[in-house]
Order: sequence, then C-alpha cells, then structure tokens
Amino acid sequence: MQSCDVVVLGGGIVGTACAWRLAERGRRVVLADPDPGGGASRAAAGMLAPVSELHHGERELLDLSLLAAAGFRRYAAEAGAAGGAGTGYRDCGTLLVALDAGDRARLAEVRRAQELLGLDVQALTGRECRRLEPFLDPAVSGGTLVRGDHQVDPRRLLGALRSAAAAHGVRTVPLRGEVLVEDGRAVGVRLGDGSALRAPLVVLATGARAQEHAPVRPVKGQVARLRMPAGQHLLQRTVRGVVRDRDVYLVPREDGELVVGATSEDRGFDETVTAGAVHDLLRDAQALVPGTSELELVEVLARSRPGSPDNLPLIGPGDVPGLLLAVGHHRNGVLLSGVTAEAVAALADGEPIAPEVAACDPGRFGSRTAAREEVGVL
Ligand code: GLY
Repeated sequence: MQSCDVVVLGGGIVGTACAWRLAERGRRVVLADPDPGGGASRAAAGMLAPVSELHHGERELLDLSLLAAAGFRRYAAEAGAAGGAGTGYRDCGTLLVALDAGDRARLAEVRRAQELLGLDVQALTGRECRRLEPFLDPAVSGGTLVRGDHQVDPRRLLGALRSAAAAHGVRTVPLRGEVLVEDGRAVGVRLGDGSALRAPLVVLATGARAQEHAPVRPVKGQVARLRMPAGQHLLQRTVRGVVRDRDVYLVPREDGELVVGATSEDRGFDETVTAGAVHDLLRDAQALVPGTSELELVEVLARSRPGSPDNLPLIGPGDVPGLLLAVGHHRNGVLLSGVTAEAVAALADGEPIAPEVAACDPGRFGSRTAAREEVGVL
C-alpha cells in the first residue's frame, strides 16, 4: 500500500495552494482530483474584493478578506516565482456604479456603512465615473470607487500554483478520493480505483463536495466570458452594478478577456447553463457598458460555489483526528486561498494561525475537541 505525509483531496485553487505550502515545508504530498481545476476555480472571476463583496453583518469575513487582500500581492508573486508563471494579478481597483436615483441611494447607504468600518471608498458623480471608464452608459449617474479591490486571473493563478506544487514534489493523482477512517481517525484516502493511500494527515479541499465532513452546500454561479479586441479594451478596472435588482460585475483582463458574472442559485449540484441566465447577464452587462454587445462571446459555464452556513469558510480540524478542512469559501475562494494554505500548513506543524483565520475553525458548528487536539501531531 502506498503512503505519503499528506493527501490533499481537491485540486482547485484552495487545494493546490495547500498542497504547495505543505510541500514547501518538506512534506511528501499527494493531491487527488479527477479533474484538477475543473470545479468552482474554473468559473471564478478572480475579484479580490473584500469591500465590494461585503454583505451586511459579515464582520469576521471582512476581517479575513482584508487580511487576505493585504497579503495577496506577495502570495501571487511567490506562487508565480515558484511556478515560473504569471498569475495576472492586477492592482486596478473596482468601480461600483448606479443607474438611477434608487441605485444611487442604495450605493450611498452602503458607502456610509463602509466608511463607518474605516474602508477606503470614494463617492463619484456619473461624470467622474465616465472619466475613469469612458465606455460606461450615459445613464450611469453615480458610483463608488474602491481603490483596494483588485483582481487576479484564477486560471493563470492555478497554473502557477500547480507548477509550484510540482516543483516541490507534489504528485497529482487524477482520481476522486474519500477520507479513510479507521478507529475514529483519518488514516489516508480511498481512491476512485479502489486503492488506498495512507497518510497521517488528510486535507479536505473539495469545495461544495465536502458534505460528508462539513456543512457546505452548492451555490450555483453562471458566468460568461467575452473577448475585447486587442487595443480596444472597454474597461480598465472591475465594474459592478445593480440592474433590475440583479448584481452584475464585469472583470476586464489585460489579455482582453472580460468576465461577466454571476448568478447565485440554491439549486443543488447543477452545472447546466441556462438561456435565461446568459440572457440576463449579457443584458445587464450591456445596460452598464453598451459596447459589450459587440464583443465575441467566448464561453459560458456554471459551477458550484461552496457555501457555508455563515459564509465564513471552514479552515481547521475536521470531525475526526488527522483531518483538516479547507472548504466553504463561497464567493471568496480565490482571495482566501493564500491565507487558507498558509494556515493549513501552520496547523499541520502545530503552529498558531492568525486570529482572522482561527475564527474559521470548523468547531464553531459543533464540538470536535478531540480532533482539534490531535490534528497537529504528525
Ligand atoms: N466572487 C464572485 C462570485 O462568487 O460570483
């Protein structure tokens, strides 16, 4: 029977970052996934947006996201250097725009709450918005500039992470795996071909599919990818708005890709792209930036975000000793991947983690004292 020091289940951005950070510390790591990078990471727009993704009452998530955003440039640079590849990280800011008086009032109310939290937000008139982004619709009547919300290209970041992991000896097995529990302890994984892989530590990073060990649920998101012609980029920074009561965002990349997202649907595991959703996304994008209707439609897809009961991820000891969870990142998996991976690697060595990440202890959903005490011992 084969063995290693750690098995990571799940080869999305979170799992691959964990595998890399664990291997960097000298562990023999195997990563198992039947389709690495084919899950939520494939659909992610890559917004690094603690402020513009903030929802009322999510203070712990805000603190965690701000920590992640502050360290993201370094994380992306380290992944890029270790993997010998770019990540598409861009310090570009985000512009929230309003079309009518109702939208403006809503933005102003959110801005007041953001200011009370000490966040860097600036009110803009419609004209000021168009000065920053000349292709906005003339109906845009006001906005908020969020200078600190940036972006990365998730597909490029994952490529860099995979190369970084491989450079540190991580072996990827293209199989599904489930946690193997003996005498109440995780002792490795059972792989899809029936074989077992023994390891004193298993890291579960299978997103919404971790339901056997974590209270996660799939939240469907549909996105469209458009292409801007070379030299004719419609947008310089991420633009977000509310059109007919639906949130829409447009994330422009340096290579001309423009990601338009996203639906948020509680309908179980469902990766069907629907005509209505694509129609709505493109129509809402067009309402903010009319020129999008002329762009090539390159791709549409749907994936499951891993939702958690309180929208905070679950990072830390699982329900049995020897199991660490890195799941439930909901709308922020890309942003939180770096802090998650660093915390998982630290926990594996029995080291303390930042309080913002400690707040994500899965134990908040039930008592797992034994698992918490034992997991750091390898
Ligand atoms: N973070 C963007 C989304 O989940 O749609």
